[in-house]
Amino acid sequence: MRLFITVFLALLSISQVFADSTCIFQLPDNRTLDFSALDLSTVSPYVYNVPDVKNTTITFNFCGEASYCTSKDPGSSICSTNSTSNTILSFGSFSRGTANTAPLPSDISGTGIQLKYSGDPKKTCGPSGTRNSYLNLVCADVSAPQVVSAITPWGQNGVVCQITLQINVPCPGFSFPKKNGLGGGWIFIIILLSGSAAYIIFGSIVNWKIRRLQGSHIFPNVDFWKGFGSLIKDGCGFIKGKITGTPGGEYSQI
Ligand SMILES: *[C@@H]1O[C@H](CO)[C@@H](O)[C@H](O)[C@H]1NC(C)=O
Ligand SMILES: *[C@@H]1O[C@H](CO)[C@@H](O)[C@H](O)[C@H]1NC(C)=O
Ligand SMILES: *[C@@H]1O[C@H](CO)[C@@H](O)[C@H](O)[C@H]1NC(C)=O
Repeated sequence: MRLFITVFLALLSISQVFADSTCIFQLPDNRTLDFSALDLSTVSPYVYNVPDVKNTTITFNFCGEASYCTSKDPGSSICSTNSTSNTILSFGSFSRGTANTAPLPSDISGTGIQLKYSGDPKKTCGPSGTRNSYLNLVCADVSAPQVVSAITPWGQNGVVCQITLQINVPCPGFSFPKKNGLGGGWIFIIILLSGSAAYIIFGSIVNWKIRRLQGSHIFPNVDFWKGFGSLIKDGCGFIKGKITGTPGGEYSQI
């Protein structure tokens, strides 16, 4: 029994460690962005192949370190790999900076946050400065993170000191109403209306041109519809009678 309790307490303390994630942020409107589930510190990090730049990939993680990048820079959260020259360059660590988050840049619409990864001050980039990076995380209707764009000043032989990734991420608790398409109800109503219009137009033409009917008889099946109107009236009266308790309509007598 003691063993079970010990194991239980040990498991509880492990879950506490994971629950104390540093990947939970608060928006100005007090909503919470919980990105703890995106942190892949203990497994393979995310890999993004930079389009238009041959044999260059960016490996990164959210909030925690990216295990692959730490060989070059302990604690590194993001790095680039040039598979032609087989070089790995770290673009910073989330835990290194003190101000490691900021609001999304104003040109990005949507809800989200910017993570700032700071470079190792001992490793300079170019004549001055360090390699650093930004992850602009935008809440989106996705099940896993998707890199939308990578802004890099990569030239043929340019020195790259900064990477910015824009990433669509799932945000627990955020819902995204479906914008595209009409609901089934509206499609039904549109089919009903256009069907009715076609019925009236073609029926009237047939009655007028072929059957040579006159006046209100041009309206297709006019006698049936006159009767239909009073059927509906009777039906409504019956339902109303059932609700209000007053006898209404002939059905109550049957
Ligand atoms: C956020 O919470 C703080 C403290 O609870 C409160 O003062 C503030 O009015 C809240 N802001 C909004 C936008 O609800
Ligand atoms: C990309 O890598 C392959 C081998 O992995 C190599 O043959 C090719 O030349 C490289 N391309 C560039 C543009 O470096
Ligand atoms: C990758 O390394 C190759 C060989 O050193 C070099 O020619 C190429 O410009 C590098 N690519 C980038 C994007 O730095």
